[in-house]
Amino acid sequence: MAELISGKEVSAKVKAQIHEETLAVKEKGVTPGLAVVIVGNDPASRVYVNSKKKACAEVGFESYEYALPEETTQEELLGLVEKLNKDSKVNGILVQLPLPKQIDENAVINAINPEKDVDAFHPFNVGKIMIGDFAYLPCTPAGVMELIDSTGVEISGKSCVVIGRSNIVGKPMAMLLLHRSGTVTICHSKTKNLAEICRGADILVAAVGKAKFVTADMVKDGAVIIDVGMNRLENGKLCGDVDFENVEKKASYITPVPGGVGPMTIAMLMRNTLTAAKMQNEIE
Ligand code: GUN
Repeated sequence: MAELISGKEVSAKVKAQIHEETLAVKEKGVTPGLAVVIVGNDPASRVYVNSKKKACAEVGFESYEYALPEETTQEELLGLVEKLNKDSKVNGILVQLPLPKQIDENAVINAINPEKDVDAFHPFNVGKIMIGDFAYLPCTPAGVMELIDSTGVEISGKSCVVIGRSNIVGKPMAMLLLHRSGTVTICHSKTKNLAEICRGADILVAAVGKAKFVTADMVKDGAVIIDVGMNRLENGKLCGDVDFENVEKKASYITPVPGGVGPMTIAMLMRNTLTAAKMQNEIE
């Protein structure tokens, strides 16, 4: 039976440390500020944005919410980003994705000042992640790394399989595992022998977006299983990408959903915002 990796516990420790560092930054007259922009009425995005604002309050940051209507034009959103780029109280800018279809997400990401890009989505920061010289952590992958490290399991030399190749999770996840000398395979919807590849994984990260996609027959005995999925079932319950009930019988460590990767993503966002506030005010 696998041991649970508690994202709640690990994220609480990270946030406590950030809170302490924030007190020291505040003594120097700086309060880290995060602008959170949400466009439209996506219920999942609303939940995420509320969690991000709550985390800001917990660690002692100021948060500034901008809730724009569904019919907002790209020009209007770019105008807001430009304003936030110039606002010295705002150290980090987070535009919650996905955006309504009339808005080109890349145009918005490209407009954010890379120094305020606490999601690390701007091509400048993505490039820095690629070469391993970066200030801003890609939030979800960095949270996953903290969870793996909390188990004490060594990554170097291990077979690491990432299912999913999104810009937000799969690609940067593979990069962080590679920087730690994992032997990394990225699987996706066109991968032919996916189950077989997964069975070779010492560390398996599922970021597919399909409920219970990873079944017990795809998992090696003693593997570390990290579930990035957040799927809403018809009965309204949240469910990860992993068939938890059966996979936990084979794994050595496994993350629950909810309470696994989700809280870590937010903790890493807080870390980036603190980094941003320090850099922009030349502290340390
Ligand atoms: N949508 C899903 N995940 C994320 C995230 O990490 N950041 C933003 N801005 N939008 C998201």
